[in-house]
Amino acid sequence: MKNAEPKAIYLKDYQAPAFEIESTHLNFDLYDDYTLVSSTLKMRRSGVNKHADLFLNGQELELISVSVNGENLSEEHYEQTPESLTVHGANIPDEFTLAIQTKIKPQENTALEGLYKSSGMFCTQCEAEGFRRITYFLDRPDVMSVYEVRITADQKAYPVLLSNGNLIATEILENGRHSTTWQDPHKKPCYLFALVAGDLKHIEDTFTTMSGVDVTLRIFVEPQNIDKCDFAMGALKRSMKWDEEVYGREYDLNIFNIVAVDAFNMGAMENKSLNIFNSSCVLANPKTATDSTFQRIEAIVAHEYFHNWSGNRVTCRDWFQLSLKEGFTVFRDSEFSADVGSRTVKRIEDVSLLRTAQFAEDAGPMSHPILPASFIEISNFYTLTIYEKGAEVVRMIHNILGAQDFRKGSDLYFERHDGQAVTTEHFVKAMEDASGKDLNQFRNWYHQAGTPELWVSDDFDSSTNTYSLTIKQTCRDTPETQEKKPYHIPFSLGLLDDSGNDYALTCDDAEFNAQTNVINVTQPEQTFTFSNISSKPVPSLLRGFSAPVKLHFDYSVEQLQFLMAHDSDGFNRWDAGQTLATKIILNLSQDVLAGRDLVLDEGLFDVFKSLLSNLNDDLAMQAQMLSLPSLAYLIEQQDQAQVHALYTARSFVKQTLADRLHADFNQVYQKCVDACEYEPSPQAIAKRTLKNLCLQFMTQTHQYDYSVTAQQQFEQANNMTDQFAALGALVNSHHQDMAQTALQQFYQQWQHDVLVVNMWLSLQASSDHAQGVASVNELLSHEAFDIKNPNKVRSVVGVFAAQNLRHFHGDDGAGYNWLADRIIELDALNPQIASRLLGPLTKWKRIGQPNGTQMKQALEKIAQRSNLSKDVYEVVTKTLVS
Ligand code: TRP
Ligand code: ZN
Repeated sequence: MKNAEPKAIYLKDYQAPAFEIESTHLNFDLYDDYTLVSSTLKMRRSGVNKHADLFLNGQELELISVSVNGENLSEEHYEQTPESLTVHGANIPDEFTLAIQTKIKPQENTALEGLYKSSGMFCTQCEAEGFRRITYFLDRPDVMSVYEVRITADQKAYPVLLSNGNLIATEILENGRHSTTWQDPHKKPCYLFALVAGDLKHIEDTFTTMSGVDVTLRIFVEPQNIDKCDFAMGALKRSMKWDEEVYGREYDLNIFNIVAVDAFNMGAMENKSLNIFNSSCVLANPKTATDSTFQRIEAIVAHEYFHNWSGNRVTCRDWFQLSLKEGFTVFRDSEFSADVGSRTVKRIEDVSLLRTAQFAEDAGPMSHPILPASFIEISNFYTLTIYEKGAEVVRMIHNILGAQDFRKGSDLYFERHDGQAVTTEHFVKAMEDASGKDLNQFRNWYHQAGTPELWVSDDFDSSTNTYSLTIKQTCRDTPETQEKKPYHIPFSLGLLDDSGNDYALTCDDAEFNAQTNVINVTQPEQTFTFSNISSKPVPSLLRGFSAPVKLHFDYSVEQLQFLMAHDSDGFNRWDAGQTLATKIILNLSQDVLAGRDLVLDEGLFDVFKSLLSNLNDDLAMQAQMLSLPSLAYLIEQQDQAQVHALYTARSFVKQTLADRLHADFNQVYQKCVDACEYEPSPQAIAKRTLKNLCLQFMTQTHQYDYSVTAQQQFEQANNMTDQFAALGALVNSHHQDMAQTALQQFYQQWQHDVLVVNMWLSLQASSDHAQGVASVNELLSHEAFDIKNPNKVRSVVGVFAAQNLRHFHGDDGAGYNWLADRIIELDALNPQIASRLLGPLTKWKRIGQPNGTQMKQALEKIAQRSNLSKDVYEVVTKTLVS
């Protein structure tokens, strides 16, 4: 480690700031080899202690000067460390102006936090703690002020100069330089500050808000991307409308800008009126982007826009409260996507991500509550738990209160706390106050980590016509809590009669809500008895995945098939199929380990056969029903995962279904082919998804050669979804000669499009058929690779470790060792990215031998390095001690 070992910060140590900042004036002088930043802050003491020192955060800064009320301070008046500047209290009156000049080097900033350069343009990323790399400041979200920002740069190289709020002045200066000045009337914490300077083009549109105010909307991109902005603009307008209709939230300035940048650590950032996006999350046209990219863009544009209220107008008091804005905003964007697309499919996608990746995180060494009690490096806590589990917790509140009272609660929350920096408790309290519902026990969801498990058993009594369900809840130990208090779990259910219809439910338990068919599970163990049930029903449990828990109920194969055919809840129809397939593959993996012959369960065969021969209108749902559980999901079902046995078992099922049903798949494929112009509408997406799923199965079989079908689709497609799906089908098939030719052709065609090349890289990095480490090493030395660009790193290194499970878990441990070397290399450049790549290795305790131990050794190799970043240090040490 660097100097001393990094220390944890605790929520219980929170103290309100000793100083306030009334206004912030920033002056940026941008040059190619350095940038000068002058900051002028109107400040006052806020605490009771009138002698408190003024502590300011700062990192990688060269201090030029500091003055209080115009008096320059000399070194005896302050103290500097690599991470702070402390001005002695004796020099500070109650009200004062603090002026600081710093010099920074954006062009050398590879961490991509603070001010940095991406493909020749200047841009910023300040959340969570990047602003301290720009100037010395109270870099904490509960210090909010208004900003005025002046940017000066060379006019030719940087014709566009942007910051938050309204443009109030532009000037032409000497030496070919120019400047713009921006004023943001809304108080904000510094993590929402943004600046962009570059040679950019833009598209423009307007949105008229519900009270009749015209807002100018602009999307800025590098010139070659100007034909990839239209979809995001449409998504922005749909989001603005939706937030007015569903939450009554109106936009609050006359200008809203989005800028696309290539080098970006995450997806996008909600800076006030100047959202900055990873170009992969905003740029798209039918020729270059797939359906799933269009859908991702729509969701992320909405997410960042929605932050204007859930995050910016009402922000977080401290970073422990991160889920206050992220959980709520993910819930909001997920509902938006459900409203503009297919609700059931959106739910299936969200739950798959949660059950595969968030459950794994929650069962591992980095497990933490959605309101964590401590952290070493906050960047490590932008997790699936904070985002996705946080959204599930908000969803449960929504379902407990009902849509109307939830809306009253959100109105009260926004009204009460507008302009404030608050905690998750304020959110829950507003929901309680508006609805009159008691959420006391529900609060355990915020403080306890781990995934609760529900153990359900049933009993039918034909003499009394009663059916009872006994529900037991447990939750395993996690680092922060051993003795778990019981959760309040809203458990939605239905009981199916012999013909597959829902019984009308009557149950005299006070915890059963007959209007919504929801049981409020609150005790460690409870029994609920339903009356007037004339014959043994098939229970449909946890409908719509009403709580983020693991459900255990011993379904028979017949019951699962019955639910697949009849359940009125679409999510549970799909889930019954997943449960069935999971059961079968897990059993087959035991056969693999025991060296027994593998035989496909006829029940599963029947299910696929009947799905393929009875196509209905809901093609999106059909495609979901025909998808096998992912290998990652299967791994998550075992305590000591036998990755190779699972891989072999799953591949066997896929192969056998392909061999026996290829003609059926082909028939559905042919039905879905159409020559229409590309459209990213839900219906058109559903059709393509089903078609391309069929193609995947078809190219697996040895019984018939469908490679020509794939090749034709590859060559004739008028959109990237179909072209890339055909390429993927070939790459993941035994037609390897054709796959190699197609890969080369594809690169020839798209080598000038960075985002398409990234897709090309990730397809190869994820390929089962490639040669593992040897193949990814080739990708690393390809001209298209650049270790300083996070998208490239994710496409090759991230995808290999997280998605190429067959080769990452190769028996010699070479995959783990290779990843450790990449992490060490990256940590010196970009600690946030390095730390994220540790994810796959943190699962070492749950992977069977010898792999688990090899993974641990790779972690130890990293731990032995000196000079690790806080980011990597925290994850590695927590992973090894546990
Ligand atoms: N607040 C952003 C969002 O979820 C994400 C974010 C946090 C981020 N830290 C970041 C993005 C660092 C890029 C880099 O909407
Ligand atoms: Zn967010």
